[in-house]
Amino acid sequence: MPDLSLLPPSAAVDGEDLRIGGCLLQDVAREFGTPAYVIDEQALRQRAREYAGALASRHPRSLVCFAAKAYPSASVIRILAEEGLGCDVVGGGELRIALAAGVAPAKIVMHGNAKTDDDIRAALDARIGYIAVDGFDDIERIGRLARGRAPVLLRVNPGIDSPTHAALATGGPGAKFGVPAAQVPEAIARMRAVPAIDLRGLHVHLGSQILELDQFEAAVAMLASLERFGVYDLGGGLGVRYVPGGTAPSVERYAAMLAAAARRHLGEDIEILIEPGRSVVARCGVTLYRVVTVKRSSRVHVAVDGGMGDNLEPSLYGQRFAPLVVGRWDAEPVLADLVGRHCESGDVITPDVPLASPRVGDLVVVPVTGAYCFTMSNNYNAALRPPVVLCGGGEARLAVRRETYADLFAREAGLPVPGIGSLA
Ligand SMILES: Cc1ncc(COP(=O)(O)O)c(C=O)c1O
Repeated sequence: MPDLSLLPPSAAVDGEDLRIGGCLLQDVAREFGTPAYVIDEQALRQRAREYAGALASRHPRSLVCFAAKAYPSASVIRILAEEGLGCDVVGGGELRIALAAGVAPAKIVMHGNAKTDDDIRAALDARIGYIAVDGFDDIERIGRLARGRAPVLLRVNPGIDSPTHAALATGGPGAKFGVPAAQVPEAIARMRAVPAIDLRGLHVHLGSQILELDQFEAAVAMLASLERFGVYDLGGGLGVRYVPGGTAPSVERYAAMLAAAARRHLGEDIEILIEPGRSVVARCGVTLYRVVTVKRSSRVHVAVDGGMGDNLEPSLYGQRFAPLVVGRWDAEPVLADLVGRHCESGDVITPDVPLASPRVGDLVVVPVTGAYCFTMSNNYNAALRPPVVLCGGGEARLAVRRETYADLFAREAGLPVPGIGSLA
């Protein structure tokens, strides 16, 4: 029987099929096609409650803001907002998604190392909770554009190079994010000289897929070496388990450590924000593919109908996954490369992975693709971006439809979509 521990908690084998949120994946694949992103709605709600409860039970003046970048779909963020989460947004696009999802403006924080005038204007007009000032030019922009007083946080670069992939580390001394400690006093002084800026606190974020809790404590301690404030946004970044042998800290342990570190280093009487993305959604989502071709030469290549168009994590930071061939529970596994259909040898969903006797037409499910896959989906090779399907209580409903060829041509000025046979 397959190892279901990487799938959403509702996952269950049902004969030759697998259920998620009570829905049979073969039915979902038939109804919505493949590739498709599937989200377990109850798992998402449960995770949001777990996060908010774990922090609030230890530090009542706290807010969990979902990092929209991990899943910028208004339908998905709406579910998290219904469970009380706020939102961390980068730029005016994510801000509009968060607002459309029903996130209260006061629960929104805007980040960005290079916010444009339009981003800042949108944040000011929407009266969001905080703008995280990322550098001296943000101070100038807010001063120039704000009409009232804008609540802001200062993003500090902690100078901590955390053990994660270089592409995911944002807190090292060479990172493009935040203001280094040595420049913090000057940034504070400049903000205090701008009447439109209401500096409320500090922000720190180390990066993503961080598995060692002591890193987060080091960041809190670093903040404590600076001037004290009433608000601290301690960022996101908690890592998740992607493959059977892996481990990751629980949300309970993470929240307990953060709350204790904040109390020890920053005091009791503060407001704490955190901004998890990956660890909220990653395990709530899977991607469904069909096997298109199996080639056996010096390696076995199992190619599916998606790839780097719907999952860039392997290309960007070498993420590995543990795919399952649905229904082939007792088949002898072969060591194969699970590859996509894009025109690059780097289009590998996961190399050297045991796959149970895959055949053309088989359904493959890739667990832990709920974070940073939908968001980075793209049109490489003019692929159509997949739909998002929410499963819960045995019902599957469409959250985001599949792209069409008409969508591909929508931005081409004045060019009609060529009809090919029955295809629009
Ligand atoms: C400022 C900020 N906050 C939160 C996050 C979310 O990180 P994660 O998805 O790893 O929790 C990121 C992503 O790196 C970020 O840049």
